[in-house]
Amino acid sequence: HSQVNTQTAKPVPTLPDAQTVTSVKHWTDRLFSFRVTRPASLRFRSGEFVMIGLMGDPHPETGKQKPLLRAYSIASPAWDDELEFYSIKVQDGPLTSKLQHIQPGDEIILRPKPVGTLVHDALLPGKRIWFFATGTGFAPFASLLREPETYEKFDEVVVTHTCRDVAELEYGRKLIEELKADEMMQELIGADNLAKIRYYPTTTREESPKMGRITTLLEDGTVFKDLGIDGIQVDTDRAMVCGSLEFNKDILKVLEGFGLEEGANSDPKHFVIEKAFVG
Ligand code: A2P
Repeated sequence: HSQVNTQTAKPVPTLPDAQTVTSVKHWTDRLFSFRVTRPASLRFRSGEFVMIGLMGDPHPETGKQKPLLRAYSIASPAWDDELEFYSIKVQDGPLTSKLQHIQPGDEIILRPKPVGTLVHDALLPGKRIWFFATGTGFAPFASLLREPETYEKFDEVVVTHTCRDVAELEYGRKLIEELKADEMMQELIGADNLAKIRYYPTTTREESPKMGRITTLLEDGTVFKDLGIDGIQVDTDRAMVCGSLEFNKDILKVLEGFGLEEGANSDPKHFVIEKAFVG
């Protein structure tokens, strides 16, 4: 028979705010997504972000470990009982060099304080909403595309995603394809509502059906011609933006050029912007 020595058994150290990884999927050598358990008490609005991470390496002298945390958009909707994240892998990135190796059953740290500007409350009512993403900036839209409120508030949802190559579009492409075909989603959101989604993927460094930066394609009118849309107008169009700092700066000018103004939670207007986690 087995015996447990209760005198020498040490408690297993648990991370503060620990959550357990339930699944991991690698999309390319630069991109992966994963799901973790959701604390019962965690409330958030679709589109918000939280701080997540891992324990850092022990300090060389003191041996002390500090949590290594970064802001990550929650890619799952507010009603989901798990949390999903979509991440870049940076080989010498302090966090993602380690985070890319997580496996189901591992623990990550999740600070339970969701915040963010990419929320419906920060926009005035409109007819059409544009989600403009580059790279991992797709994450908050993976949440908002599965959020019923998106379809209650808008007649049309245009999702643009610009990536370097075709493989980097796959997470978003698959999510939208599966969302439209999923019976549970059709029940939750409505098949007619899901038909409101217009997906507009573009690549910049590999041949694909639509090439170019979305900023250029907006400025030269290609997007509008392709989608049969009469341009972006203050009366009807709203936008949410998530990408690199440079992208955010450039599209801000493009949207302001159409007469749109940037809003906030406390001051809803025509568009909102958030920086995607890039390293
Ligand atoms: P490009 O290949 O021309 O740099 P990254 O993977 O580096 O985060 O980039 C994601 C996508 O965003 C790439 O297709 C990249 O195009 C595009 N991008 C980068 N900066 C800008 C910008 N300032 N305006 C529009 N698109 C951009």
